[in-house]
Amino acid sequence: MDRMGRRQGTDAATLMRHFGSDRDLLPLWIAEPEIALAEPIVDALRRRAADGWYGYETRPEPVIDAYWDWTQSRHGLGPSGLHTKVSPSIGTSVGTLIELLTDPGDGVILQSPVFTDFKTIIGAGGRSVVKNSLLESDGGYTFDLEDLAAKAAESRNRLLILCSPHNPVGRVWAESELHDVAAICAEHDVFVLADEIHEDLALSPHRFVPFGTAAAGTDVRWASTNGPIKTFGLAGVCDTLLITPDDEVAERFQDRSSQLHLTRNNVFGIEAFEVAYRLGGDWLDELLVLLAANVEVLRSTLPAEVKLMPLEGTYLAWLDLRELGLDVPEIPRWLAAEAGIAISPGHWFGREGAGFARMTIAMPTETITQAATQIRDAVARR
Ligand SMILES: Cc1ncc(COP(=O)(O)O)c(C=O)c1O
Repeated sequence: MDRMGRRQGTDAATLMRHFGSDRDLLPLWIAEPEIALAEPIVDALRRRAADGWYGYETRPEPVIDAYWDWTQSRHGLGPSGLHTKVSPSIGTSVGTLIELLTDPGDGVILQSPVFTDFKTIIGAGGRSVVKNSLLESDGGYTFDLEDLAAKAAESRNRLLILCSPHNPVGRVWAESELHDVAAICAEHDVFVLADEIHEDLALSPHRFVPFGTAAAGTDVRWASTNGPIKTFGLAGVCDTLLITPDDEVAERFQDRSSQLHLTRNNVFGIEAFEVAYRLGGDWLDELLVLLAANVEVLRSTLPAEVKLMPLEGTYLAWLDLRELGLDVPEIPRWLAAEAGIAISPGHWFGREGAGFARMTIAMPTETITQAATQIRDAVARR
């Protein structure tokens, strides 16, 4: 797949310099693709921009239908029995649900190491993070179900934020694993918010299972966050969805969104959303092939001291650097100064991530080859 037009000289967040080096670093730390985006989307946005009117626009039903046609055919889940609400971002939905489902001082369960914003949003709302850390072994990560049951049994812990597929550890949870989580949370009346924003990025032979599918047969209360922003590189333009079978939660979410005027549409977002799900399939299939090739490059190029954890999904490689024996806070600076790359240090995702680092691999293979070679050479020079 082609390289994206250079973002040098723009305000792209990925170019921010906070890795302690004034060299030009390979920017591999933000979770977004840096390859030419799907042509039908880019064309549609160009056409929409050329229209020359950008006023109030309603969101026609077919836009949401596009998501459900896609999800039915790719992931086997349809809209029957589910409410589908639009939200400007995943963070907005997470913050709103925390506010609706918990009180200040309550605990929200997180499975660390995990995407950093969850913790920030929980704290900003005056709730506490309750950790149900993932269990790590050579073979990768699993849920700690015993610990989850103990945390869920505490009456102040009323919400679990589940990351599925998991950023940063790259797990695509199996249906049985998700079912076990659903059963535990049902037993203790803990609401599950499944953030499924990486749902389309399962790498063969792994298969993404929607939480709604895995939860069947349990009484768990749940919602999921979904949308095209990660898959298609649309975080700066597009909307997301909140999906739930829960009538009360759907109604309260809608009321709160209306109150805060979060229901305002962005004309480009509407356009990109529908085209992504109607015409983006071929591009995504190519992306998945590219990701598999990039995983192979990492496997064959990284030195023995830097281990690639099994990558089942997402375009985020989770690297174990512990054998290098670096001081944890030094890792990002060492990678910048010695290997010329900007990647996210694992401790950003919680203490459990200390000694790891997360690298975005939705990049041209030559970029990943260069990054892996620079790491290998930096390790050899130590
Ligand atoms: C799991 C997960 N959820 C949410 C987000 C961010 O979503 P938003 O920018 O819409 O809040 C990310 C971004 O990397 C993510 O990886």
